[in-house]
Amino acid sequence: MRKIKLGKSDLRVSEIALGCMRMSELDTNDAKKVIETAHNEGINFYDHADIYGKGESEVRFKEALKKTSINRNEILLQSKIGIRAGFYDFSKEHIISSVEGSLKRLGTDYLDTLLLHRPDTLVEPEEVAEAFDQLHSSGKVKHFGVSNHSPLQIELLKKYVNQELIANQLQFGVMHTGMVDAGINVNTKDGNAIDHDRAVLDYSRLNDMTIQPWSPVHGEKGVFLNNPDYKKVNDKLSEVGEKYGLDNEAMSISWILRHPAQMQVILGTMTPERIKNYSKATNIRMTRKEWYDIYSAAGNSIP
Ligand SMILES: NC(=O)c1ccc[n+]([C@@H]2O[C@H](COP(=O)([O-])OP(=O)(O)OC[C@H]3O[C@@H](n4cnc5c(N)ncnc54)[C@H](OP(=O)(O)O)[C@@H]3O)[C@@H](O)[C@H]2O)c1
Repeated sequence: MRKIKLGKSDLRVSEIALGCMRMSELDTNDAKKVIETAHNEGINFYDHADIYGKGESEVRFKEALKKTSINRNEILLQSKIGIRAGFYDFSKEHIISSVEGSLKRLGTDYLDTLLLHRPDTLVEPEEVAEAFDQLHSSGKVKHFGVSNHSPLQIELLKKYVNQELIANQLQFGVMHTGMVDAGINVNTKDGNAIDHDRAVLDYSRLNDMTIQPWSPVHGEKGVFLNNPDYKKVNDKLSEVGEKYGLDNEAMSISWILRHPAQMQVILGTMTPERIKNYSKATNIRMTRKEWYDIYSAAGNSIP
């Protein structure tokens, strides 16, 4: 599997990462199979959050990893913090205690990356900076980033935070394209010209921040792959995939990776066979025309 640089850091990460949001639903043996399959496919990056399975996903990961022969230093662990029951909390105290909770549940001394999960409008960036400094100097967190943040929210943090912000985790995929729609439709009166994402794609490229697309195979009505409500786009993905020997499922991930922003897709499947199939997505590079044909088949206008 191809590796990319994560933001301005020196981390070499697999283009596909495994999101562990649903790992608490597995028993330890099934979780072990998932981790071993991902590892064999060249996936070296695992995404967590303190809230996944109310902490149980991180625990299951620790238990399952222990049963494999994979060493901690062969993999990169990311967790996210800041979402609480009914509110957001970027206070220094909460950031530090959440990281300590994740380290304990994951059974590790350090996180490779820590993301602020979803913006806290009551954020006091000086406090975030103090928390990051403490976590960084103690070696508990190597790198920092954000999730679901707009460019100006990132700029506000950057005014105070001393470390680089290397990644922004955002929803993106064939059926969730807001990030590219506004740019494609700029200066038209089309509704797709409305910029819900505040030019975050261009901002990320300009500032060398890696976008980590989450829920990559989801549309508004759930998983869109092989879903009759999304027949046209599935047919197009299959048609283009024939040329490359990939099915529509793998092609949906290739479509994301074809974007030159060099994104790192966060896959959420807990099915080993699907992990293997999606991993084939990194072997091909579709043409520009094929990329736009898929975008169009997903119901988007090209002015
Ligand atoms: N930052 C954020 O705000 C945020 C929000 C949500 C998620 N995330 C992260 O992103 C990761 C991925 O999110 P996600 O799990 O929603 O992503 P996803 O990969 O779009 O969806 C995974 C789900 O879809 C099912 N699925 C996958 N491929 C399928 C197919 N071909 N046919 C039928 N069902 C299929 C999986 O079932 P099986 O497991 O049975 O295969 C699983 O339930 C999470 O694990 C988490 O780490 C971040």
